Amino acid sequence: MSFSALNNSSTESCADFNREDWASSYCNVNQELTNEVVLPITGSVPAELNGTFFRNGPGRFERAGQWVHHPFDGDGMIIALEFKNSEVRFSNRFVRTKAWIEEEKAKKFTYRGVFGTQKSGGFFANAFDLRLKNIANTNVVKLGNQLLALWEASNPYALNPNNLETYGITSLNGSLSKNEAFSAHPRFDHGNFHSPRMVTFGVKTGPTSTIRLMEFATKGKNAGQLINDRKDNFKGFAFLHDFAITPNWAVFLQNAIEFNPLPFILGQKGAAQCLSSSSKKNGKFWLIPRESGKFAGEPPKTIDAPKGFVFHHLNASEKDEEITIDSIHYKDFPSIKPNENFLKINFDLFPEGILKRCKINILENKISTKTISQQCCEFAMVNPNFQGHIARFSWMAIAHRARGNGPLQGIKKLDLISGDHIIWSAAPRGFVSEPIMVPKPHSMIEDEGWIIVLVWNGERRKTDLIILDSHNLKLKTTIELPLAIPHGLHGSWVSYI
Ligand code: CO
Repeated sequence: MSFSALNNSSTESCADFNREDWASSYCNVNQELTNEVVLPITGSVPAELNGTFFRNGPGRFERAGQWVHHPFDGDGMIIALEFKNSEVRFSNRFVRTKAWIEEEKAKKFTYRGVFGTQKSGGFFANAFDLRLKNIANTNVVKLGNQLLALWEASNPYALNPNNLETYGITSLNGSLSKNEAFSAHPRFDHGNFHSPRMVTFGVKTGPTSTIRLMEFATKGKNAGQLINDRKDNFKGFAFLHDFAITPNWAVFLQNAIEFNPLPFILGQKGAAQCLSSSSKKNGKFWLIPRESGKFAGEPPKTIDAPKGFVFHHLNASEKDEEITIDSIHYKDFPSIKPNENFLKINFDLFPEGILKRCKINILENKISTKTISQQCCEFAMVNPNFQGHIARFSWMAIAHRARGNGPLQGIKKLDLISGDHIIWSAAPRGFVSEPIMVPKPHSMIEDEGWIIVLVWNGERRKTDLIILDSHNLKLKTTIELPLAIPHGLHGSWVSYI
């Protein structure tokens, strides 16, 4: 999520990478492959790695010669990499959203994108067209016997996990009303504290915003059923992309932002371009008691948070009256202005993502903040079995430079206690996406397992699948995929065990 200040100048002061290599990933995907066996060119696929890696991200950027204004306006395409007995099979499918089907037929954009893509035809074609284009491109998770292609401002699309066929938009057995917001960042409580469940939320935003916190069963006969549900109101316009959980709390960081919808209504800007950061104001932590926890039914708490802007959290944990939450903080909200071209971004003008730790004392209503790592990072995770729990290790995508912003080119394993770290780098011509940590089955060792990551190979102009040892980040496997897959968003691992 690192698009902010832009510059159309072709000079780039940072020589660690070539911007053409980075930008070449943004191309339309014109093929859909099914169960193609893909073979390693180095190493072999670990025999204990059995499951499917699903990944979502934009796969269509251009229609009738018109480019999306922002890559996040690209239609969602799901990748599935199935690992079985040291063999890997690759599939990809676009989510057949209502908008995708209409635009395929019309052979042009017929919707405005949230991040600034406008229909052709100028003011009269765009003004007062306030439909939001659900492009189902942000994340993909399995719930019950369905895959959900997620896009936070509306209902998910349900897919067949075996062949990626789109069933259609889903209300999750009547749990969601039509067009109800449903986050693209569910958190999985694997059963360390409760029965296993997916915890997620939806936000209805306005001068007063409502957060709906939902918990769905993930195992057993009632998998996919809504088992806990609550709604809380907060003052202010909420922009919440992600959250974190502990056994008893759902933790939200409400950024200090303002929303002026007029340019959106008048067709001059996308809805997300109407957000601006109030850099002088503090954000707020909104702490909502989980209905499965010991504070069920109690009112939420609001506590001042640091200034700046946060998209993503790494993890949270709680001990007595203290909640610890690690998040990636930016100085400001990044946005691509209407006259700027995302393919020509100048990374030096971006605020970089810095990993910070906030300790929240819920009795005294106080927080303390410290920087954990200054190297620009995104897409950070802990061992999923430690979600909501005190975790020692984390893995994240990082810029190649030690300071300042840059495209994501490496994977860092960071010891959250000692600060020690190790790095695997794909620089200068490789660009990483979100790394997924897959724990070794039945292992009690926190950092034992693998890191799976798709890497854009700037030399080959296609995508490689890389498997690293999560303990030492040694390269285990390189598989050259037969497709060029654009830089993507989020994904998940579904284990067969
Ligand atoms: Co995200």
